[in-house]
Amino acid sequence: MNILITGGAGFIGSHVVRRMVKNYPDYSIYNLDALTYAGNLENLNDIEEFSNYTFLKGDITDATFINSIFKKYAFDGVIHLAAESHVDRSITNPLEFVMTNVIGTVNLLNAAKGLWKDNFENKLFYHVSTDEVYGSLGESGLFTETTAYDPNSPYSASKASSDHFVRAYGETYGMPYVISNCSNNYGPNHFPEKLIPLFINNIIQKKSLPVYGDGNYTRDWLFVKDHAAAIDLVFHKGKNHETYNIGGFNEWKNIDLVKLLCKIMDTKLNRSSGESEKLITYVKDRPGHDLRYAIDASKINKELGWAPSVTFEQGLEKTIDWFLENEEWLANVTSGDYKEYYAKMYQ
Ligand code: NAD
Ligand code: DAU
Repeated sequence: MNILITGGAGFIGSHVVRRMVKNYPDYSIYNLDALTYAGNLENLNDIEEFSNYTFLKGDITDATFINSIFKKYAFDGVIHLAAESHVDRSITNPLEFVMTNVIGTVNLLNAAKGLWKDNFENKLFYHVSTDEVYGSLGESGLFTETTAYDPNSPYSASKASSDHFVRAYGETYGMPYVISNCSNNYGPNHFPEKLIPLFINNIIQKKSLPVYGDGNYTRDWLFVKDHAAAIDLVFHKGKNHETYNIGGFNEWKNIDLVKLLCKIMDTKLNRSSGESEKLITYVKDRPGHDLRYAIDASKINKELGWAPSVTFEQGLEKTIDWFLENEEWLANVTSGDYKEYYAKMYQ
C-alpha cells in the first residue's frame, strides 16, 4: 500500500507518521508537508532513514502539484492532517485557513477521485478533524457524532467546511472516507503557541502566563500518542462513511490545568512551591471563545476497542520531561518568526 499522510511534519502528524512507518514496514509512507512555521522535519529525525519513508515538500493549495504526486505515487490511502491549526491565528488571518483547510482538502479529494476514478475498492480518504466543529457546550453534556455542527471561530468554520466536503464527495461520487473529530491534544513536539507548550516554555523562561478571560474555559485533553493510536485504528478498522469522536475523558478548566502545570514545573525545576503560579496573568479574552469542549468517545471505544493508554498526570509528566530534555528543539522553534508572532499576540 502507498499511503499519503499530509501535515506529517507537524505536531500530531509527526506522531502518526512515526507510528505508521514503524508499525507497517510493508507500507510505503509518503509525508507531504509545506513546512510552514508549524512544520518541522526535526520532529522526524529518528525515522528519516527508514526505507519505507519518503518526504515530499509541497503545498496542498497547489492543485497541479497535488495531482502530479497522486499520478506519480498512485496512493491507495490518504490520512489528511495538513491544516492551519491555531484558533488565534485564524482570528487574525481567516483567509489563510480557508485556503489550506478548505481549498487544500478539496484539492486532495479531487486528486483522489481523479486517480481512483470509480474503482474505489481498497481505497480510503481519512480526514482528521476536530471537536471544535460542534461549537461550544454549556456546563453539561458531551459532543457525540450526531451533535449538530455549530462552529464559532474561522478555524473551526474552515474545519467544518472541509468535513462537509469530504462527506459530500462520499455521497456524490462514492468516495470511501472516514472522519474523526478529536479533542485537544498535548505531548512532545507540540508547537509553543498552544496553551500547554506555551506555558511550559514561559515557566522555563520565567515569563508571564497569559490566561484568557477568567480562565474558567474547559477543554478535554488527550495525549498525542493516544490520538495517533486511534488514527491507526480508524484507518484500518473504521467503517466506510462513518465519523468517530476521539477524546480523553479528561476535562480541565484552564486555570486548574495551569496551576497543576505550575506545581509540577516547580518540582522539576527545583523552584520553591508557588513560584510559577505567581507568573499567572489574566489577559483580554479570545473573541468568540468557546466555553467548553467535551467528547463522548463511546463509539470508538465500543466499536473499535480504543481507549486512552495514559492518565493525564502520566501524559503531562512525559510531556514536561520531553520539553525539559529538548530545550534545543524549543529554542529552534521559538527563534525567528515566533518572536514577532508572540510580540504581536501578547503585547
Ligand atoms: P500543526 O499546526 O502542528 O501541523 C500542521 C502541519 O500541516 C504542519 O506541519 C504544516 O507545515 C502543515 N501544513 C500547513 N499548511 C499546509 C499546506 N498548505 N500544505 C501542506 N502542508 C501544510 O497541527 P496539529 O496540531 O498537528 O493538527 C493536525 C491536524 O489535526 C489538523 O487537521 C487539526 O485540525 C487536527 N486536530 C488538531 C488537534 C490539536 O489539539 N492539535 C485536535 C484535533 C484535531
Ligand atoms: O479541541 C481541539 C482543538 O484544540 C484543535 O482543533 C486545535 O487545532 C487546537 O489548537 C486546540 O484548540 P484550542 O483553542 O482549544 O487550544 P489552545 O491551546 O489555543 O487553547 C486552549 C485553551 O487555553 C483555550 O480555552 C484558550 C486558552 N488559552 C490559550 C492560549 C494560547 C489561554 O488562556 N491563553 C493562551 O495564551
